[in-house]
Amino acid sequence: MTSTITQDEAAPTRDEDLPADWAEQVRALAAERDAVILAHNYELPAIQDVADHVGDSLALSRIAARVPNAEIVFCGVHFMAETAKILSPGKRVLIPDARAGCSLADTITADQLRAWKAEHPGAVVVAYVNTSAAVKAESDVCCTSSNAADVVRSVPADRQILFLPDRHLGEHVRRVTGRDLWIWQGQCHVHEGIGGDVLRGAIAADPGADVLVHPECSCATAALSMAAAGEIPADRVRIVSTGGMLDEARRTGATKVLVATEVGMLHQLRKANPQVQFEAVSRGAVCPYMKMITPARLLDALRFGRDEVHVDPDVAERARGAVERMIALGSSPTVSR
Ligand code: 13P
Ligand code: SF4
Repeated sequence: MTSTITQDEAAPTRDEDLPADWAEQVRALAAERDAVILAHNYELPAIQDVADHVGDSLALSRIAARVPNAEIVFCGVHFMAETAKILSPGKRVLIPDARAGCSLADTITADQLRAWKAEHPGAVVVAYVNTSAAVKAESDVCCTSSNAADVVRSVPADRQILFLPDRHLGEHVRRVTGRDLWIWQGQCHVHEGIGGDVLRGAIAADPGADVLVHPECSCATAALSMAAAGEIPADRVRIVSTGGMLDEARRTGATKVLVATEVGMLHQLRKANPQVQFEAVSRGAVCPYMKMITPARLLDALRFGRDEVHVDPDVAERARGAVERMIALGSSPTVSR
């Protein structure tokens, strides 16, 4: 166990008892506590709208590393809040619901990684940020979906690379960098469900639409095969992080865009370009962990200072190098507000 949560005994606010002015209360409490509220692009629209910054995991890590506030309230999943704590050990980091985990991060433990490393001595370990602090502590450099290719390119060509934990992101990075990677066979259950057949069906129903695909999706390979086979023009398909999707949304000339990722992303896309119709490839692509951060939980986080995220200082110290190496590399952040 590398991190623990302090729970306050105070009774939680029930969703049905949420005061009408909850957003004003959240903003007032954040000011009182000197807290900055960060929200991932997959959060509920109401959470995104009340946050100080909304972005992808790389952009939010960068903001967490540089904000002057005493406290960071992370509306996202646990590994994201842990990463903020690793980068800012002197700050108090809160997550409104510490049970907000990640099925992808759960596919590898530090023990499993140690055993994998022993099979490949001397290999460089590139870990997606969707991992626990203990796994990061065993890794050489982290990456997110927006900078994974740049991070892999930064590894000397004569070194073997262990890429973990997402197999679809790993395949995508192998494709775009041409590097031979050892890839951990993990997956996110939300993106695994957006398969090639689902994407083909959505494109057949909307043949004129642009297509944005998150590299964690199991349909990423199908999207590129369709483009290669001329079933859809190659310049209308993009495999991009959630931040990259926003960049594409701002510059698209299409009237409709099909989006293969978690449905929370649609909120920022629609705000970024209201002229365009953005539709989910799969409306069932809902991350149950991201949706645990409700307005009532956020209000209570600020009222009672919970759930606080703690990372074992030794683990944090070892994980920090991998996260900081990532932050120093890679593409520029895309953030809203
Ligand atoms: P991004 O790196 O695109 O923000 O994605 C994080 C994530 O959890 C995807 O499921
Ligand atoms: Fe984890 Fe998947 Fe949810 Fe992203 S969408 S936080 S990878 S479970």
